[in-house]
Amino acid sequence: MKLKIAILAGDGIGPEVTHEAVNILKAVAEFGAHDFTFTPLLVGGIAIDKTGSPLPTETLEAALESDAVLMGAVGDNKFNALPPDKRPEAGLLQIRAALGGYANLRPSIAYPALSGNSPLRPEVTDGTDILFVRELLGGLYFGQPRSWDKEAQRAINTMVYTRAEVVRVARVAFELAQKRRKKLTSVDKANVLEVSQLWRATVTGIAKDYPDVTLEHQLVDSMAMHLMNIPRNFDVVLTENLFGDILSDEAGVITGSLGMLPSATIGGKVNLYEPVHGSAPDIAGQGKANPLGAILTAAMVLRHSAGLEQDAAAIEKAVAKVLADGHRTADIMRGGNASQHLVSTTEMGKLVHQALAESIDQRQAMHAV
Ligand code: IPM
Ligand code: MG
Repeated sequence: MKLKIAILAGDGIGPEVTHEAVNILKAVAEFGAHDFTFTPLLVGGIAIDKTGSPLPTETLEAALESDAVLMGAVGDNKFNALPPDKRPEAGLLQIRAALGGYANLRPSIAYPALSGNSPLRPEVTDGTDILFVRELLGGLYFGQPRSWDKEAQRAINTMVYTRAEVVRVARVAFELAQKRRKKLTSVDKANVLEVSQLWRATVTGIAKDYPDVTLEHQLVDSMAMHLMNIPRNFDVVLTENLFGDILSDEAGVITGSLGMLPSATIGGKVNLYEPVHGSAPDIAGQGKANPLGAILTAAMVLRHSAGLEQDAAAIEKAVAKVLADGHRTADIMRGGNASQHLVSTTEMGKLVHQALAESIDQRQAMHAV
C-alpha cells in the first residue's frame, strides 16, 4: 500500500501531537511493509510568520497532490487582533475549501477507562458512541455576503445551503448509520430558520432511500441539552457547519477531554484529517498535550484513505488499552485516583506504539499458525 501524506502540523501543540500520530503511522507502515511518505508543510500562524500567508501556495499545491492531509492545529493569541481572513484559522478554512471534503466525521466515544473523568455522571456517559457528521463547506463559515463595516458598526455573515449541499452530506450520514446502529439524528433550527426548513425537508426526502435507518429531527438548542442528558441515545448525528462545531466541542465533555477527539473530512478531492482540539498555546511545548486525538485521527487516515481497517481498529484498541492501564496526560488525569499515572505527550505516544506493536505481533502470529 502506497500513501503520500501531507503533514500540516501548524501551531501551538499541533507539532507535538502530530509527531506522535506520524510515529504511529510509521509503525503501521513498517509492520505491514507499506510505503507511506510524509511531507511536512506550513499552515496557520507559523506559515504567516515565515511566508506572510496562513496557507502558502506551496502547501496548497503539495496538499492537493497528496493522498491524505494530516493537520495538527492552527491559531495563536498573537494574531487575535487580525481580521478573520488574515488569521491562522483562515489557512484552515482555505484548505478545507480547496480539498473539497464536505462531510466532517467526528466520533465521540466514552472510553470505559475514562468513565468518571467527565463532569457528567458515569451512568450518563457510559456506553456513549456517537458519530457526528458535520457539514464542513457551507453555512455561516463560507456564506456570502459577509462583511464588517467598521464605520456603520454593522457586520454580516450569511447562513446559506443549497439542496444539493444538504443531500450529499446527508447521504454520507445515512450510509454511515446503516453500518452502525441505524439511527440518524438530524439537527437544525427549523422553528426559526428557512435554511433549517430546507435542511429538514431535504433530509426527510432522502430518508426513503434508507428504509433501515430511523430518522429523527432535533432542534439544536434541545439537542445541546439531550446530549448532556442522554448521550447514549444518539448514534449518527447530522448537522450543518456551525451547529456541528459547537455540538462536537460539547461532546468532548462526554469523553472527558477534547484532547481525545479525532476527525476525518471526506467527500472531496483529498481527505483531510485533524483532531478536534485547537492549538492550546498555553500548554504548547511543555509535553502536556494529549496526543490521543491526533493518534486516533491517524487511525481514521488508515480507515478512510488506505482501506486498512484492521490497522485502524488496532490503533483504537491500543489507545483503549493504554487508558485501561491507567496512563494519563494531564487533561484526562482525575485527582485522587491512585491507579492513574501521569505521562507526557511523548510517553503517551510511546505507550500506544508499544501496545500497537503487541497487538500486531499477535495478529501476525495468528496468521502464521
Ligand atoms: C474546529 C475548529 C475550527 C472550526 C476553527 C479553528 C476554524 O473549531 O475544527 O472545530 O471552527 O471549524
Ligand atoms: Mg471547533
